[in-house]
Amino acid sequence: MTDQYRVTGNPIKHSLSPRIHTQFAREASQPIEYTTQQCDDAEFSSKIKQQLISGEILGTNVTLPFKEQACALADIRTARADTAGAANTLWLNEKGQICADNTDGVGLLNDLKNNLGLNLAGKRVLILGAGGAVRGVIQPMLEAGVARIDIANRTVSRAQAIADIFVGDAVSACGYDQITGPAYDLIVNGTSASLSGDLPPVPDNAIDAHTCGYDMMYGATLTPFCAWCESKGARAIDGLGMLVEQAAESFLIWRGVKPSTANILSQLRDELQQK
Ligand code: ATR
Repeated sequence: MTDQYRVTGNPIKHSLSPRIHTQFAREASQPIEYTTQQCDDAEFSSKIKQQLISGEILGTNVTLPFKEQACALADIRTARADTAGAANTLWLNEKGQICADNTDGVGLLNDLKNNLGLNLAGKRVLILGAGGAVRGVIQPMLEAGVARIDIANRTVSRAQAIADIFVGDAVSACGYDQITGPAYDLIVNGTSASLSGDLPPVPDNAIDAHTCGYDMMYGATLTPFCAWCESKGARAIDGLGMLVEQAAESFLIWRGVKPSTANILSQLRDELQQK
C-alpha cells in the first residue's frame, strides 16, 4: 500500500497541503498519498493515536484548531514544539513513540531567507498577535540572530505569556498603543485579523519605507495588512511562501528528503493571481 499521510483540522476542505505534498512527492519520486481529514474536538487525540500506532497513516500535519492538542498527545516533542506548546507535524518513531514537531517557524524563516533574500541577523522585529500562529516563530527567529522581538497584542497578557517563555530581554510584550518608534526592520502579522478584513491597530510610527511587512495570511487579493504596508512605501509579503516552506520541512521529517519548493510556490502564486 502507498504510504499514507494526512492533514488534520476543522475545517479542512480548502487546505492546499494535499496539492503541495503531492507535488513534492512527484518531484522527489516518493510513493506517498496525502489527503485531508476532518475531526471534531472530542475525537482528535484518540483518532490520531490510533491511526499512527496501527500504521494506517505514517504521519499527519495538524492545523487549526488542533495544534496544541497535537503537541500534548505526543510522547516526544522537539525543543521547538515544546517551546511553542503547539505542533503541526506528527509521526511514529522506530520505537513506536508518537513524535511532534513544529515547522511553522522554520517555514517562515526559510521563506524570508531563501525565497525573499532577507537576512535577519541584528534586525528589530515586531510581531502582531499572540495566538498559536505566533508561538512557533519566536524561538527560530532568535536562533536566526534577530536583535529583539516585540510582541504586540490586543490582550497584552497573552503576549506577555509568550515573552515570559524566553530568558533575557530579547523578547518583550506590549499593547498596540505602547508601540513607539523607530520603525521596525520587520513586522510579522500573526493575528487572524485579515480573515475578517481587519487591520490590527498598529501605529504609523512602527513602519517606514525600509520596513518589510509579512502577513502569515494570504489571499487572492492583497490582505489589509499588506495593503497598509504598501501604502507606507514598505515591502509587503504574504504567507503563501511560509505555507509551502513549512510543508517542505514536514516532508523532510517524514521522508528524509528535502523537496524543492520553487515549482509549487510559483504555480500556487499564479493560480492565486488568476482568481
Ligand atoms: P491562532 O491560533 O490562529 O493564532 P488565536 O489563538 O485565536 O488563533 O489568535 C488570534 C490572534 O489574532 C490573537 O492574537 C488575537 O488577539 P487577542 O488575543 O487580543 O484576541 C488576534 N486578533 C484577531 N482579530 C484581531 C483584530 N481584528 N485586531 C487585532 N488582533 C486581532
